[in-house]
Amino acid sequence: LIAYLNGAFAPLATLQVPVLDRGFLFGDGVYEVIPVYSRRPFRLLEHIRRLGRSLAAARIDDPHNEAQWLDLVHKLVAQQPFEDQSVYLQVTRGPAYPRNHVFPNVAQPTVFAYADPLLPPAPALVQQGVSAVSADDIRWLRCNVKATSLLANVLLRQMAADAGVTETVLFRDGLLIEGSASNIFVVKEGQLLAPPPSHLMLTGITYDLVLELAATHRIAYQQRAITAAEVRAADELWLSSSSKELLAITELDDLKIGNGQPGPLYRAMYQHYLDFKR
Ligand code: PDD
Repeated sequence: LIAYLNGAFAPLATLQVPVLDRGFLFGDGVYEVIPVYSRRPFRLLEHIRRLGRSLAAARIDDPHNEAQWLDLVHKLVAQQPFEDQSVYLQVTRGPAYPRNHVFPNVAQPTVFAYADPLLPPAPALVQQGVSAVSADDIRWLRCNVKATSLLANVLLRQMAADAGVTETVLFRDGLLIEGSASNIFVVKEGQLLAPPPSHLMLTGITYDLVLELAATHRIAYQQRAITAAEVRAADELWLSSSSKELLAITELDDLKIGNGQPGPLYRAMYQHYLDFKR
């Protein structure tokens, strides 16, 4: 598999970064995950722009302009043996000696990109929905930055894995935030509800698309604070991400959501998503 590191393409298995890279020592970096369908990167510009915002928030100089980023992704995609891909992009502050929390005076960001084969969610998951557990959000207060320092997300996602379910739904101060690696939507009485973007959550590219599709197809929606009680009493609960697309959560902490089946609005929205990605 061909991957990219600091200006050159090479076989993934041959690529190495120095152990003093601040991405390794501090999780001092940002990343993107971009779905690619039939070799067409999906919403690429939106992903590249979010990467730019994450870099700015992390105070890492963007090593490339927009055109260079698009070119890099297209070249990477063209060299993969599979049609549907999940492109991973990462920029860290780079290697620095000696280890010091403070930014190095001279830093050369490390740019890494590679692609995995992308498998759409199994039809059974789309038909039957998935289960989730809930947890208090233990992450920091800048979750709008797509940072590689993901220890809290990792621990929260492992709670789901340990419980044999798909995702951990996060609440802060009794309000719905997002999943450990996804955004969450609620349907109540035919209306679609989404937590409002803030520094407490990552505004997903898929989240934006779902709301755009809602507007296009005249599905009423509201972005507002959603309480834990509203989540438990929801008719439908969905999760969205670049890798999982859109899935219905039909069980949360052993409580059935709605009638325990993916709801009608989920089915309609998933079809809109499939039509859009074609
Ligand atoms: N995760 N919220 C969090 C915390 C996420 O990590 C992600 C994505 C999302 C959804 O964003 P998008 O729709 O742009 O994929 C929301 C990626 C897929 C990951 O870390 O692998």
